[in-house]
Amino acid sequence: MSSLFRRLIDGGGVAVAPSVLAADFARLEKEIRAVDAAGADCLHLDVMDGNFVPNITFGPFVVEAIARLTKLPLITHLMILNPGDYAERFVEAGSYAVSFHREAMESGHADLLKKIRALGCKAGVAINPDTPLSAVIDLLPGLDFLLVMTVFPGFGGQSFIPEALGKAEEAARVRKEKGLDFLIEVDGGVKPENARLVREAGAQIVVAGTAIFRSPDYAAAVAAIRG
Ligand code: DX5
Ligand code: ZN
Repeated sequence: MSSLFRRLIDGGGVAVAPSVLAADFARLEKEIRAVDAAGADCLHLDVMDGNFVPNITFGPFVVEAIARLTKLPLITHLMILNPGDYAERFVEAGSYAVSFHREAMESGHADLLKKIRALGCKAGVAINPDTPLSAVIDLLPGLDFLLVMTVFPGFGGQSFIPEALGKAEEAARVRKEKGLDFLIEVDGGVKPENARLVREAGAQIVVAGTAIFRSPDYAAAVAAIRG
C-alpha cells in the first residue's frame, strides 16, 4: 500500500503527477515506464464521460490495465456526471486516490467522500476555475485532497488560468486555521515556467500532461516542475 499522502503530509515537498492523457496511447506501457524512470511520484488519470465535459477518455478497464503496468500510485480524476454511480469501480480498478467534481452533483458530496474512504481509497473533490472555495468549504474536513483546476476540464494542452491559483492559497490558509490536513492538487496548464507559482500557492501534488509527455526529456521536465 503506497503511502504517498502520508509522506507529503509528514515530510512536505511536492509530488509530480504526469497526466497520462497526454501520453502516446499506442505506446502506453513504455510511456508509463518512462515517466516512472523520470522520477514521477504518481500518475494522474483523467476520466471524461462526454457529459460533464465535452470529451471522452477511458474508464475503469484502462485504469485497471495501467495498475498492472506500474507500482506508482494512481490518482484518478473523475470528470463525469453521477460520480457516485462509478467511483467504486475506479477504486476496485486500483486507484490510490479518486476525486470527483463539486459541479458534477447537486448534493451528496460528503456521503460520496465517505464511501470512497470506506473503500480504503483517498478521496478528493475537484473545483473548476470559476467555482469558489466557499462551494466546498464544508467538505474540507471530510476529504483527503482538494483538486484546484487551473483550466476548464475537458482537454489537455490548454492555457493555465493563474487567477484560479488564489484558491489553493486560500485553501492552505483555511487548512491551517481549522487544523485540517488535506493535500492540495493543482491541475491544468502547468509547465516548468509557471510551476514555481503553482508550488508557492501551496500545491503539493502538481499535475502536468503536455509539459511532460510532449517534452523531449521527461526527467528534465519532472525535475523542473518539482523545482
Ligand atoms: C484537463 C485534465 C488535466 C489535463 C492536464 O481536463 O483534467 O489533467 O490532462 O494536461 P495539461 O498539463 O496538458 O494541461
Ligand atoms: Zn486532470
